[in-house]
Amino acid sequence: METTDAFTGLSCVDCGEAFGPEAATHRCPDCGGILDPTYDLDRIDLSPEDLAERPFESMWRYAELLPFATDAAVSLGEGATPLIECPGLADAMGVGRVLLKDEGSNPTGTFKDRGQSLAMTAASQHGAEEVALNSAGNAGQAAAAYAARADLDAHVFLPSRAGFTQKAMTEVHGADLTVTDPIDGNSQIGDAGRAYAEAMEDHPDWYSTKTFVTPYRHEGKKTMALELLEQLDWGAPDGVVYPTGGGVGLVGMHKAAREVRELGWTDELVPMYAAQAAGCAPVVDAYESGADRHEPVPDDEVDTACNGIAIPDPGASPLVLDAIRESDGGAVATTDRAILDAAIEVARTEGLEVGATCAACVSGAFALAESGEFGPDDTVVLLNTGAGNKDVDALRAHLGEREVEAGEAATETAGDDIDS
Ligand SMILES: Cc1ncc(COP(=O)(O)O)c(C=O)c1O
Ligand SMILES: [Zn+2]
Repeated sequence: METTDAFTGLSCVDCGEAFGPEAATHRCPDCGGILDPTYDLDRIDLSPEDLAERPFESMWRYAELLPFATDAAVSLGEGATPLIECPGLADAMGVGRVLLKDEGSNPTGTFKDRGQSLAMTAASQHGAEEVALNSAGNAGQAAAAYAARADLDAHVFLPSRAGFTQKAMTEVHGADLTVTDPIDGNSQIGDAGRAYAEAMEDHPDWYSTKTFVTPYRHEGKKTMALELLEQLDWGAPDGVVYPTGGGVGLVGMHKAAREVRELGWTDELVPMYAAQAAGCAPVVDAYESGADRHEPVPDDEVDTACNGIAIPDPGASPLVLDAIRESDGGAVATTDRAILDAAIEVARTEGLEVGATCAACVSGAFALAESGEFGPDDTVVLLNTGAGNKDVDALRAHLGEREVEAGEAATETAGDDIDS
């Protein structure tokens, strides 16, 4: 296996047991807990000055801080996304600076490419032939792309509510796609999870690239924080607002912030803020109630058009809540209306395209600024996890509803005139 010098193996977040780089590949063999890659940071032979000499062309420029070497990488050029100044949003929010980290420029249009690049590299290194996962949509598409690149067969399980683009592109990349049937209305991520689990029982040789089943997805997403800190010259922003479903990216970014602080590249952690949709906000509810883990939202109570964050039972919530609290961040839920309005406002004021799911970080940041959490001297980073054109249906439908409402309001006003 082509592992990096500093990578020491995997450690169980529940029982603390440590495993060598080749001793375990997924959940803890002892207790079933999540495994987290570990490093001997003293062995990292890399500095911010070295990084400045490297081309900004993929997340693998941080390979020293990842488990596998660049030569082993299953890569499509993921990462190296821009951090874009948004003066109009900063004005509207009443904060010093707003910067949008635009993950829409990834190969399959979302940040999921970072996690799948690393997880598929691990699959390849571990000798897998077939990979499998369930997903809300974007990770399934990304897995199909990276499996194609690695010449592996992929089995992708999506709920019927996943977007057309995600389902279509999963098949275009040649993966075997199972869409779970609607039971009442649309099926949810949990239905896809059950179909995946049944298939895994029949095929124990399939290598999972599912969230927090493989230790490598949050590890790949770590690079979002490495990049944005480097883009800010290793000065931590006052907040990163992140559209949170399973919390994989949030946990990964917090881990990166801890590592670079330990390396002495930064002085402070990055305050991490989880933004969710009010129609499915288990992490926000747990944060506000002071709980250590979430209460699952019943499937039939999930009420949001934002597919990527319609995650009613995020198993790693204790890690997400720890990251938020340790970094002195927060959590915020906003309505679908505020989220979709925010996506349209960004598209119109800044020209940037944010996905429906992703726009929760924009409406969330507005709500946080409104509540006084962010002020006029603060730099706020919005993590735009994916491209707007992956969610055109939800965005256009919202525009349509606004047009109908505006039409009705105009008719009512005209009616008032006639009455008076
Ligand atoms: C566009 C988008 N944003 C955010 C998320 C949530 O990601 P996480 O599991 O890291 O919270 C997803 C997950 O599907 C997604 O597709
Ligand atoms: Zn364990």
